[in-house]
Amino acid sequence: MLGIAILAIDGPSASGKGSVAQRVAEVLEFAYLDSGALYRLTALAAQRAGVGWNDEHSVAQIAQSLDVRFENERVLLAGQDVSAVIRSESIGVGASQVAAFAAVRQALLARQRAFATKQGLVADGRDMGSVVFPDAQLKIFLTATAEVRAERRYQQLIARGESADLAAITRDLQSRDERDAARTEAPLRQWHDALLLETSGLNLDQVVECVLSSWKTRMQSL
Ligand code: CDP
Ligand code: CDP
Repeated sequence: MLGIAILAIDGPSASGKGSVAQRVAEVLEFAYLDSGALYRLTALAAQRAGVGWNDEHSVAQIAQSLDVRFENERVLLAGQDVSAVIRSESIGVGASQVAAFAAVRQALLARQRAFATKQGLVADGRDMGSVVFPDAQLKIFLTATAEVRAERRYQQLIARGESADLAAITRDLQSRDERDAARTEAPLRQWHDALLLETSGLNLDQVVECVLSSWKTRMQSL
């Protein structure tokens, strides 16, 4: 990855990683990697193939041979638009289960690294700064309180016209975060070289500004 500009953003569910990373990538004119989408696609492809999310070997094979295309805002699995389907909380739970397996993570590693080109890259997930792009010029750990994150997810679903139950969302986020943090493979945590950004009191524009100014400062220091 020598010479390639990489900004890694990790953090728990609904901390704003995806929205912030996309906006920052647009401003910097970098490519964008939504690594969580790959775990979600693996969970969906396994479900469609009738493979259990607890079957490490078979799920890893599915991850290895995923037929995925990212086209602007759309995600295609075997040519079919699954952009909305993969965002459901049930697929999020499946993603978190399959993501705990070393063989699955290994199967998705090269695919994630292939997003890093001379154009530069903003990547978001759980292990962007720790495992996938350990040499990233800037690593950010984005977070917010569990209450704020659940409220953000709730508002996001309502805005999409979907039904939402704040108590259920809070429960689901908490159990997914706990599983992601407790696993041995690439656990969710703030690593020593990542900049912590606590965003509970900040709106999206403010967080984007903060990330862009951290990037500028970092570039000036190199
Ligand atoms: O990717 P991740 O699950 O971390 O979060 P997201 O889907 O980007 O953000 C969840 C929701 O929170 C979105 O509707 C964002 O617009 C919103 N958000 C916010 O209200 N304030 C922020 N500082 C960051 C995100
Ligand atoms: O948007 P949200 O933060 O809720 O989830 P996501 O980023 O789409 O990730 C879904 C699940 O995939 C997470 O709960 C993690 O278990 C897993 N994941 C991971 O293990 N490593 C990544 N780099 C990205 C996601």
